[in-house]
Amino acid sequence: MTDRVVYLNGEYVTESAALVSIFDSALMFGDMAFEMTRTFRQQPFHLRAHLDRLYGSLDLLEIDCGLTLEEMEARTLQTLERNQPTEAEDVDWQIMHNVSRGPLPLYGTVFGGQPEPTVTINCWPLITHMAGFVANYQDGLRLAVCAQQAIPAHLLDPKAKTRSRMHYQMAVLQGARLGEGIWPVMLDPDGFLAEGPGWNVFLVKDGVISTPEPRNCLLGVSRGNVLDLAGQLGIPARETNLGRYEALRADEIFCTSTTYCICHAVSFEGQVVGNGGPGPIFQQLQAAWKEQVGLDFVAQAEAYADRLADWREAELAVEVS
Ligand SMILES: Cc1ncc(COP(=O)(O)O)c(C=O)c1O
Repeated sequence: MTDRVVYLNGEYVTESAALVSIFDSALMFGDMAFEMTRTFRQQPFHLRAHLDRLYGSLDLLEIDCGLTLEEMEARTLQTLERNQPTEAEDVDWQIMHNVSRGPLPLYGTVFGGQPEPTVTINCWPLITHMAGFVANYQDGLRLAVCAQQAIPAHLLDPKAKTRSRMHYQMAVLQGARLGEGIWPVMLDPDGFLAEGPGWNVFLVKDGVISTPEPRNCLLGVSRGNVLDLAGQLGIPARETNLGRYEALRADEIFCTSTTYCICHAVSFEGQVVGNGGPGPIFQQLQAAWKEQVGLDFVAQAEAYADRLADWREAELAVEVS
């Protein structure tokens, strides 16, 4: 526990006091939209895109959080500003938004008869996330299709980023059973690749980048960034239906997500991808991303790994308030 503070329904409280009620609709139904943004050199990256997606998710869930997007943005920047002094200047941050309908009206008397939506924003230093990712950057990811399917848009649109995520958790559990360190890829009900439980997937074949159509997957902000960078680099990129067949024949495969940005895969279902190392198009994209944000995020992760033990010790030494 440190001095970090969390925005919780209009107030700033310590992390240990940032509690959501057992009567909250989030706990009852997974009825909560959320977002995860990261900073590069302490500046939020594509915050507007994340907030647009948050408000899209809230629209689908029919939650009025009581704040305009601009107000949410201002509170986000204020939360980040309040937390930044708790870490060294080179530390980047995960910014998390969690917004639910609030406690169920059935239990409204516990909340003075007027339950409000639950709105929280918290910032967490990226040291733990990124230190744990170094081996993936170095060795590449091993992917395999898991039994759990993606929930298709006609059942619950995955474009909304919600806490209703048991199917992703099932995929993670199944991935672990497929082999140590396996990253599970979910298929959609038509047998096409959809996404992983927290990341989007890309294939490269004959110099063309392909990623699943935006039908049964989250429209990752990092996915969008790859498509933009590919455009700038003059690399053809398309959204299309991709199956196991295409994945097994790909020259390159890579995955994207907010914290680690982009990471190459070395195998798909036990078969080596390309030459088993980071492919040329992946390398171009990763280099372009580093240039875009003015930071070598792989080197940063390595530096965080070196100081993780000290960081944890310092965290644990601070008295819990
Ligand atoms: C299911 C799912 N797909 C894809 C992604 C990647 O999205 P982004 O690049 O916006 O982090 C995430 C991120 O959490 C996710 O949960």
